[in-house]
Amino acid sequence: MLYIIFLIIVALIAFGVYNKLTNAVCTSNRRLEGKTAVITGGTSGLGLVIAKDFAKRGARVIVACPFEEEGTNARQEIIKESGNENVLFKNLDLSSLSSVREFAKEIQKTENRLDILVNNAGVGIPGDFLTKDGLNFIMQVNYYGHFLLTLLLLPLLKKTGIESDPARIVNMSSLTHRYASSDVDNYNRAGYWFTIRTYSNSKLCLVLFSKELTRRLSGTNVVVNCSDPGFAATRIYKSSSEFLGFLAITLILLFANTAFQGAQTAIYLSVDKAVNGSGEYFQNCKKIAAAAKANNETSIRKLWDQSIKLVQLSDEELKDLNLL
Ligand SMILES: *[C@@H]1O[C@H](CO)[C@@H](O)[C@H](O)[C@H]1NC(C)=O
Ligand SMILES: *[C@@H]1O[C@H](CO)[C@@H](O)[C@H](O)[C@H]1NC(C)=O
Ligand SMILES: *[C@@H]1O[C@H](CO)[C@@H](O)[C@H](O)[C@H]1NC(C)=O
Ligand SMILES: *[C@@H]1O[C@H](CO)[C@@H](O)[C@H](O)[C@H]1NC(C)=O
Repeated sequence: MLYIIFLIIVALIAFGVYNKLTNAVCTSNRRLEGKTAVITGGTSGLGLVIAKDFAKRGARVIVACPFEEEGTNARQEIIKESGNENVLFKNLDLSSLSSVREFAKEIQKTENRLDILVNNAGVGIPGDFLTKDGLNFIMQVNYYGHFLLTLLLLPLLKKTGIESDPARIVNMSSLTHRYASSDVDNYNRAGYWFTIRTYSNSKLCLVLFSKELTRRLSGTNVVVNCSDPGFAATRIYKSSSEFLGFLAITLILLFANTAFQGAQTAIYLSVDKAVNGSGEYFQNCKKIAAAAKANNETSIRKLWDQSIKLVQLSDEELKDLNLL
């Protein structure tokens, strides 16, 4: 028994060392003056690191989260650290379809361009229930809300992107997408999955979504990719259940990437000139293969149709968005 525990500890340490050694840093020194970026959950954790990076590069940065105090504090912190005053906080509750619509409307009204959209916000495994929109809470925040937001912001992204410099959508996926189920029909149920599985499903959805969106955006100057922050130590794990949270935090203290490290790939995808394809999956600033189930065409199509229905986009809106 002790022998087995010893082996497990050695394996964990090896994994941790590997994780630290392979973590890449985005070395692009590209400036972002005149460009606008929206970062969901840009007020804490990885999102805050990304927001600060963009602000230092001179971008107009809009961070979004549902908490006023956290938002205004983050804005101050970003301005102070970057010396860039062009930073805004806007309220966005991804667990509410009407909040997403309001936010998108406001952005379309106040902004005349959108160069970078980072779909970063996410909840861990705080609970398993349906929101007032009838959507699984974890799925709605991590995926359905971002699905709707992305589609509603497409007109502005399309207007902004040019061939030599496309507008970019970056989704924060997670290595947990590998543990997701392919049972698309039941993704939105509450009380059906272990919440860890629901979290994994939501992250797989981001990968499937990006593939379908890439297809539907072909011929436009908008590109999408998924970023995998690796095993990053952020607040997401604190919102997990107490025991799992304890376990996660212990492991994280030993092995995990910091938020700074975890943010590097997303920054790379957002700013690096070398990046010019779409629909791919990146870790450590390198393209890697997503799980095989992320290439399941049945899942990709099913999820797209299901998502359109669940976020209540009408045929008319889809026609306007050129997505029918
Ligand atoms: C990112 O997420 C959005 C919304 O969930 C989706 O439309 C888009 O296709 C995703 N992109 C990638 C590369 O996963
Ligand atoms: C970008 O795309 C063009 C055309 O497809 C290709 O020739 C070029 O090598 C690509 N750049 C990189 C860095 O992959
Ligand atoms: C997505 O990945 C492709 C393929 O490597 C790359 O050419 C493209 O530029 C990437 N898009 C973004 C937004 O990073
Ligand atoms: C692909 O996904 C569908 C559900 O979307 C599932 O029924 C099927 O078994 C999957 N195929 C493979 C090869 O995993």
